[in-house]
Amino acid sequence: MNDLAHLPSGLADRLRAIVGDAGLVTDAHAREPFETDWRGQYHGKAALVVKPASTAEVAAVVKALSDARVAIVPQGGNTSMCGGATPDESGTQVIVNLSRMNKVRAVDAANNTMTVEAGCVLAELQRVAAGADRLFPLSLGAEGSCEIGGNLSTNAGGTGVLRYGNTRELVLGLEVVLPDGRVWNGLRGLRKDNTGYDLKHLFVGAEGTLGIITAAVLKLFPRPRAMATAMAAIDGPEQAVTLLGKLREACGDRITAFEYLPRICVDLVLKHIPNTRDPLSEPYPAYVLVELSDNADAATANATLEEALGSAVEEGLVRDAALASSDAQRLALWGLRENISEAQKQDGVSIKHDVAVPVSRVPELYALAGKALAEKYPDIRIVAFGHVGDGNIHYNCSKSERQAAEEFFRQAADVNHIVYDVVQSLGGSISAEHGLGQLKRDEIKRYKDPLELELMRNIKKTLDPHGIMNPGKVL
Ligand code: FAD
Ligand code: MLT
Ligand code: ZN
Repeated sequence: MNDLAHLPSGLADRLRAIVGDAGLVTDAHAREPFETDWRGQYHGKAALVVKPASTAEVAAVVKALSDARVAIVPQGGNTSMCGGATPDESGTQVIVNLSRMNKVRAVDAANNTMTVEAGCVLAELQRVAAGADRLFPLSLGAEGSCEIGGNLSTNAGGTGVLRYGNTRELVLGLEVVLPDGRVWNGLRGLRKDNTGYDLKHLFVGAEGTLGIITAAVLKLFPRPRAMATAMAAIDGPEQAVTLLGKLREACGDRITAFEYLPRICVDLVLKHIPNTRDPLSEPYPAYVLVELSDNADAATANATLEEALGSAVEEGLVRDAALASSDAQRLALWGLRENISEAQKQDGVSIKHDVAVPVSRVPELYALAGKALAEKYPDIRIVAFGHVGDGNIHYNCSKSERQAAEEFFRQAADVNHIVYDVVQSLGGSISAEHGLGQLKRDEIKRYKDPLELELMRNIKKTLDPHGIMNPGKVL
């Protein structure tokens, strides 16, 4: 069965003429994976999935859909945490999936850049960079399936932000198909270019509401010769922030990752993810996963981190630590961190809060939100972890054994307000790195300056006057 009947007459044939049979998914069953999000929270229904294989094909597809005023849902690896790439339930929207646009167009090692297409999988780009003896530092749990077009469109963060910034800071140029099908070629590999408004930054983080990113020029960095990785046991968020300051004082920018895991996260991973183990001999209230990247040899890098952590142990800040002594051990430590989302998903339902506060205020976030939630919802289990090095905490709340999922989700709006009001009072943001998508589209009105929202709507109207790009998301 297919739903081509939902499309204006002749449109499906026009699209087929552009992308061929290999670029169309019409069968309802085959479309399902594209219509549901990674968490299984959003289930849409598309008229069609189109998979163009070149910029020219994307442009022709968008022109055809624009002429017919058919809504477009751009999609990359479909790992969005906020329903950003899921169509609505009308059956009239068309998913434009970029996965077939997966060529690396050029690597310019002397310029420290690579020019890549939107459908390149992030982990593959990390490998391409390493092959040129360079580092592409964007790194996140979904890197085996998310695509660079999606990373750019969400301005993804991940675990390297402390040292290298988020995706916005890793891009020099973009190629974008505009909502009317014209192609903007902004694929410049320049570190300096003050020729007016920096338009690429409009499309970064726009979540597919302003156009389709088809290619990008990305920054490359020197590849560190050695990584030292450790898991340090601490008492809580306050100790994490103090330790971060001390490690940066001692090691400077060589501290490239600093992730916070309360014990409950380690327990969830050990329970649900095979072949994982606690690297320390007894449980502690919380941990930080610290990574130091160095140009010295491995022994020197390890000694530097060991010494810095050793002095924190002497001060009573760190209670115990496990330092990876092989690549396998390093990956095992990262496995405890990167599998938290998967373990949480397997454990049951959760209400996610991807929030940011100034790093100095992270301890207050834990104290104030924890107290406010405990007063009203004593049964809620808080699973709050993440990128403490840049102030981004995934302040997730999960269902306790006694609550039914349905009742839990009925409480979600109230739970959100409790957490977000605290975040707001600390000068924070209710979406640090995942975007707004459909999850926070309405919630943002409560927390963002109306003038900022008005400016955003004006930009949207200018670029997409017919409102066909990812309607129902962000605004
Ligand atoms: P999709 O999910 O396909 O799309 C995301 C948004 O971008 C949608 O709005 C879509 O319409 C739009 N879009 C996609 N491609 C294009 C394009 N070419 N042009 C225009 N718009 C486009 N995120 C983080 O920031 N940090 C993390 O640490 C992190 N960890 C994660 C861990 C797990 C296990 C999972 C499942 C997700 C995680 N995420 C994280 C969220 C997600 O992986 C990121 O948001 C990622 O950048 C999305 O990429 P994608 O290719 O899957 O995009
Ligand atoms: C992560 O950092 O692991 C994800 O962004 C977190 C999440 O699942 O909320
Ligand atoms: Zn994250």
